[in-house]
Amino acid sequence: MKQIYNWGIVGLGKIAHQFALDILKTENANLWAVASRSKQKAINFADEFNVPNAYGSYNELVDCKDLDVVYIATPHSFHCENTILFLDHGIPVLCEKPLAINSRQVSQMILASRGRGVFLMEAMWTRFLPMINNMLKLIMEDTIGDVVNIKADFGFKANFNASSRLFDAKLGGGALLDVGIYPVFLSLLLLGEPNNIIAKSDFASTGVDEYCKIVFEYEDNKTAFLNCSITENTPTIAEIYGTKGMITLQSRWHESNKLTVKLLTGETRDYEFEYNGKGYNFEMIEVMKCLTNGKLESNFMSLEFSRKLINLLDKVREKTGITYPEDNISTSDISFQKIYNN
Ligand SMILES: NC(=O)c1ccc[n+]([C@@H]2O[C@H](COP(=O)([O-])OP(=O)(O)OC[C@H]3O[C@@H](n4cnc5c(N)ncnc54)[C@H](OP(=O)(O)O)[C@@H]3O)[C@@H](O)[C@H]2O)c1
Repeated sequence: MKQIYNWGIVGLGKIAHQFALDILKTENANLWAVASRSKQKAINFADEFNVPNAYGSYNELVDCKDLDVVYIATPHSFHCENTILFLDHGIPVLCEKPLAINSRQVSQMILASRGRGVFLMEAMWTRFLPMINNMLKLIMEDTIGDVVNIKADFGFKANFNASSRLFDAKLGGGALLDVGIYPVFLSLLLLGEPNNIIAKSDFASTGVDEYCKIVFEYEDNKTAFLNCSITENTPTIAEIYGTKGMITLQSRWHESNKLTVKLLTGETRDYEFEYNGKGYNFEMIEVMKCLTNGKLESNFMSLEFSRKLINLLDKVREKTGITYPEDNISTSDISFQKIYNN
């Protein structure tokens, strides 16, 4: 990979700052442009990270010269609209998780990517961490035997603020889509799609889910017990039980650099991996490799995987009664299908 990739960031909130720090540490990645709804905010961000191009609207960024790829870091409810804006202008997109609010929106995004022939990937950064790749290698080598059971959680106590991204349904608030997506991702990666779902949530005064407890049941009595919360600090550990032993992804497992293998023989092995930064560089490298190779999607975090992930989240939402304004089908979806099919 020789080319330097000029990155743009869309939506300059918390994660945008983290991502920008990791761009600075990633070979071949250059932080080239930032876009905010506020020109002053864009200028401040650009000053902080020494970015040459700062825009006061997302629309202006599409005309930025020499821009190679954008990272969408807006609240979930804008992912679909923001992503399609850039795909329509031929600009590759790495979009934050969840790829969108529901399957319908994700289908629109996939249609836009394939219709325009432009790269798209969900920024499920955990998929690219060395710890996850090592876990997969250990499982493929049959170290713990057949995976039969998973327990994984992700919970933290957020300060309640009705108009914040986490608590406002209009911004896609709630535990399941924000943090529950990680345990659901892990279960999909290791056990695939379940045959049966049992799920329960409780709701904040704003209507978003404060927690979600999920049981996925699979063939041969395999099971995943998953749990997420935005009102409680939980251990945030993942345990993968196999017929010969278990793997523990240490806390907080979705970003961890440590895992432990415990075999039924009594043997224990600890693994630790070096990260240069927070860990967002691994997904960035994957995007840049795909672009170098002219690929429209990643083999490791494919659009089909993202579609399965959001389908699963939709099904959990159906069981628990979690809803969003975007769930109402509008007539504009029908004309949307026509644009990309023609
Ligand atoms: N991968 C990870 O580790 C990770 C961690 C945290 C969050 N995330 C994901 O990243 C996304 C953003 O999360 P965040 O924590 O960075 O959120 P945040 O701090 O609230 O920032 C979101 C940004 O989106 C923009 N935005 C556009 N329309 C908005 C609206 N109507 N209301 C509020 N903001 C709006 C704003 O940027 P401007 O004002 O500059 O336009 C805002 O700063 C979410 O989808 C989340 O799931 C991922």
